[in-house]
Amino acid sequence: MCGIIGYIGHREAYGILIKGLKRLEYRGYDSAGIALSNNDYRVYKCKGKVSDLEEQTKDKDIKGRIGIGHTRWATHGEPTDNNAHPHKSMNGKFVIIHNGIIENYNKLKNSLENEGYQFESETDTEVLANLIEFYYLNNRKNGKSFSPEDAVRAALNMVVGAYGLVILCEDYPDQMIAARKGSPLVIGIGKSEYFIASDATPIVEFTDSVIYLNDDDIAVLDDNGLSLRNLKNIAQTPDIHKIKLEVSEIEKNGFDHYMLKEIYEQPRAIRDTYRGRLNFNSKFLRLGGLHNVFQQLTEANRIIIIACGTSWHSGIVGEYLFEEFTRISTEVEYASEFRYRNPVINKGDIVIAISQSGETADTLAAIQLAKKAGAIVIGICNVVGSSIARETVAGVFTHAGPEIGVASTKAFTTQITVLTMMAMSIGLANKKLAKDEFTVLIDELYAIPEKIEKILTKSEKIKKIAIEISNATNSLYLGRGYLFPVALEGALKLKEISYIHAEGYPAAEMKHGPIALIDEKMPVIVLATEDKSYEKIVSNIQEVKARKGVIIAIVTEGDTTIKQMADYVIEVPKTDFALAPLLTVIPLQLLSYYIAVERGCNVDQPRNLAKSVTVE
Ligand code: F6R
Repeated sequence: MCGIIGYIGHREAYGILIKGLKRLEYRGYDSAGIALSNNDYRVYKCKGKVSDLEEQTKDKDIKGRIGIGHTRWATHGEPTDNNAHPHKSMNGKFVIIHNGIIENYNKLKNSLENEGYQFESETDTEVLANLIEFYYLNNRKNGKSFSPEDAVRAALNMVVGAYGLVILCEDYPDQMIAARKGSPLVIGIGKSEYFIASDATPIVEFTDSVIYLNDDDIAVLDDNGLSLRNLKNIAQTPDIHKIKLEVSEIEKNGFDHYMLKEIYEQPRAIRDTYRGRLNFNSKFLRLGGLHNVFQQLTEANRIIIIACGTSWHSGIVGEYLFEEFTRISTEVEYASEFRYRNPVINKGDIVIAISQSGETADTLAAIQLAKKAGAIVIGICNVVGSSIARETVAGVFTHAGPEIGVASTKAFTTQITVLTMMAMSIGLANKKLAKDEFTVLIDELYAIPEKIEKILTKSEKIKKIAIEISNATNSLYLGRGYLFPVALEGALKLKEISYIHAEGYPAAEMKHGPIALIDEKMPVIVLATEDKSYEKIVSNIQEVKARKGVIIAIVTEGDTTIKQMADYVIEVPKTDFALAPLLTVIPLQLLSYYIAVERGCNVDQPRNLAKSVTVE
């Protein structure tokens, strides 16, 4: 949510900023801007995409070896040129870019207005720029020494909210300041140069050495190098990490869209997720990241899963897996509800936070609440070094690789892979899962990537179905048991990228209300692979058919019964029913993708959305 990039060093900054913004555009894409410093500073910004900004700066002075750039997802104020970042302070001393929300911005704005400050935008960021300037100018009166860093610290001590900030000061043209609370910032360390970004994607082609800023850190970068102190002005020791990310992982590699590339990456992503953890020959499974909490996990009375969006859907699959294989009572909560409703958390409860980005603000806040209440909080994250990964006491990374398409795909299947392995290992340890069942599951899990590859070969057929139903305005997704969360996920995928209204329902609930919606214009996507409720789902299909609904059924290979009833059938290979979500979701992802393409939608950057929701 909002992408930030900064550069200070020996190269021209402009190209690095524009390229970086393009890499970060998936985080927000309603406006973009840059500021370049070359003894003075120049700000260029506009509503629209980074390409619009590039167009705007074509004939402009773009010189400067220091610069900052921003791509925005609007929180305060509409996407307009004025509201785009960077924001200058009223007297032009500071220029800043910001990701996050300043919650007390109204109060701060009123105080600044009383001091004579005027505002050009509706943003909370401009308030912060002016607040920093106010402290700076006031404290330097009468020749007192007060640095830009002092001013940033003074202002941030007044702020309630979340921020990832990069700041330039006109009086110190060779310096750049960065600060973080709640919103991520990574500093890349090159040879006599530094890069700052919201995530590592724009940095990897320059360096693999990075520092993840912690909450309350303020970093100052200049010719003397990097100095790191916190809000209380106490020196901090930078912790340098090596990132393992290839540039090819963040490029489209010949695919039309990131989403399609990421759908096709799922066999690889799942293999990478179980590699080194599962040994298929010896039938051995060990999740090293859970080692220090494994005993508590096997003895737990209760597991609470917290997540948002697609990760919440994989959480529901997790609930079914945990209850079935470990017999530990499991609840799944929307992180945003959990944190605000005074939940009962007992000491020793296990809380599992699931997050692709590892930065989702609600999930992060829910983790902090659970930790305070004495729960053991475990993370399932994709992004190494992310806030959630660092905030949890133990965890398992999903190894999906960077997910850039805004609609989550490979995150879902790799999260389920991790949840399956967790449930299996706990179940085996607490003796609720028999060894022979465990062995069967290992073999089935091993075969999943190959089965997904087989489903992917059907993409032309799925595309044809997508074109047929692409004019629909409403749709229903039905599933039972393990396939109910898949129905939710299928519906979410369709609405977010094609803007067709879609609802996911437990199939049996259809007759309690949604059946009223069904007519000949309504596509009903039914997850109907063979399992213990197969006969029931066949009845549900007949109920839809009797009302002339258009049935698209996802069935097990070789199914003949449903073939006779459904308008369209997509086959998936047979697997254990606990693993069926990993297969059945693939046609739904492809269906949404092709429908969105057919409708001319921007698949990778759907309207109003952004990857990584770092605001509440
Ligand atoms: C949907 C989607 C979102 C995310 C949600 C949580 O396609 O991408 O619903 O799943 O914002 O994000 P993470 O998993 O990063 O916490």
